[in-house]
Amino acid sequence: MLDLAQRMSRAKPSAIMAVANKAKALKAQGKDIISFSIGVPNFLPGPHVYAAVEEALKHDTGQYGSNRGPDALLDAFIKHMEQIGLTGYGRENIVTGDGAKHVLYNLFEALLNEGDTIAFPVPYWTSYVDIAEIVGAEIDLIPALAEQNYKITPQQLEEAMARKPKVFLFNNPSNPTGMVYGPDEVKALADVLVKYPDTWIITDDIYNRMLFDGVEYTNFIMHQPALRDRVIFVDSLSKTYGMPGWRLGFAAAPTAVANAVVTLNSNHITNVSEMVNAAGVAALTGPQDVPEQKCREFESKRDLVMDVLNSIEGVVCPRPQGAFYVFPDISCAFGKTHGPTGQAIANDVDFCNALLESKGVACVPGSAFGAPRSIRISYTCPTPQLQPGMDRIASFFSELS
Ligand SMILES: Cc1ncc(COP(=O)(O)O)c(C=O)c1O
Repeated sequence: MLDLAQRMSRAKPSAIMAVANKAKALKAQGKDIISFSIGVPNFLPGPHVYAAVEEALKHDTGQYGSNRGPDALLDAFIKHMEQIGLTGYGRENIVTGDGAKHVLYNLFEALLNEGDTIAFPVPYWTSYVDIAEIVGAEIDLIPALAEQNYKITPQQLEEAMARKPKVFLFNNPSNPTGMVYGPDEVKALADVLVKYPDTWIITDDIYNRMLFDGVEYTNFIMHQPALRDRVIFVDSLSKTYGMPGWRLGFAAAPTAVANAVVTLNSNHITNVSEMVNAAGVAALTGPQDVPEQKCREFESKRDLVMDVLNSIEGVVCPRPQGAFYVFPDISCAFGKTHGPTGQAIANDVDFCNALLESKGVACVPGSAFGAPRSIRISYTCPTPQLQPGMDRIASFFSELS
């Protein structure tokens, strides 16, 4: 019998998309659904981005583009990096891809042999595990529990690094927790990393401009410049600029790594669409009012969400300072029954199913992120839906016994 490659037995469709699809199906049946599931920013880029695309269409050359990305885009990205404090990069260090997910996929391909270990904190963004499994890497999870604000300690990192992973992957601000490591915390981790020269470090920091409470973005190399030879910075237009469907991601890396990703690009995508590249230049170099205003809006939405969560007895939720997620520990609900429907809640999946079916609110079970005591709330829905959605969650809790 004809069969698929073995790696496909390890490949799974996205768990987040499964929840989003279920919510969509219920909505299509006419149910009143509020979706806190998928991590989309839910706004559109400024008009200058659309104007740049129109202009690019007028000047289409009809040719393939660069496997790395056009110079204007590489330069725009270098400038963006300088603005967030990452200086000293040249075009040879930069490479583009079809979103950060594709860039990460390429990096895993480029850096990990089958059987090599990649270490990263849990809760994690789901695709880290999925891609690592496809490329046949071993995964070493470093627990970052709610009690420790979903952040790993230098001691934990030291222990993980002593196990000699080929790659350490770090995500700051975090999806799914929204937590942000401050400068002192990043420095303390950088001081550990610098002692282990045989490990590549990927910093997936695509929410680097979505920060609240005056917190500033920092990267390991700002504290330990020697790490520049091993740190790969990943970024994307998706969240900051309201452009998830446009598919444009970046890496800034030591030249050999950037070149490896360019080679992979040359063998599959060839280049990101030239229209999207033009949009990327406009987004990065044009007016920043839309992303800045949206960031402030997310900050006040975070406040509203936290106010409701803090009012629910038994729910523990570290206060996020970035991205647009909160990740409450809802394990106080386990072992209880939802009165009106009689549904028993044994775990996070039961919780999300019962919440969706009884209250029409879609959240993602924490097990999708390796943290089954929690759920993820993505709070980018239209503002008028936010308070009612959170009230429904509070009401759901009040009906458990
Ligand atoms: C932490 C993190 N990294 C990468 C990605 C992928 O982003 P992109 O849309 O650029 O592929 C996401 C998207 O949810 C994310 O949350």
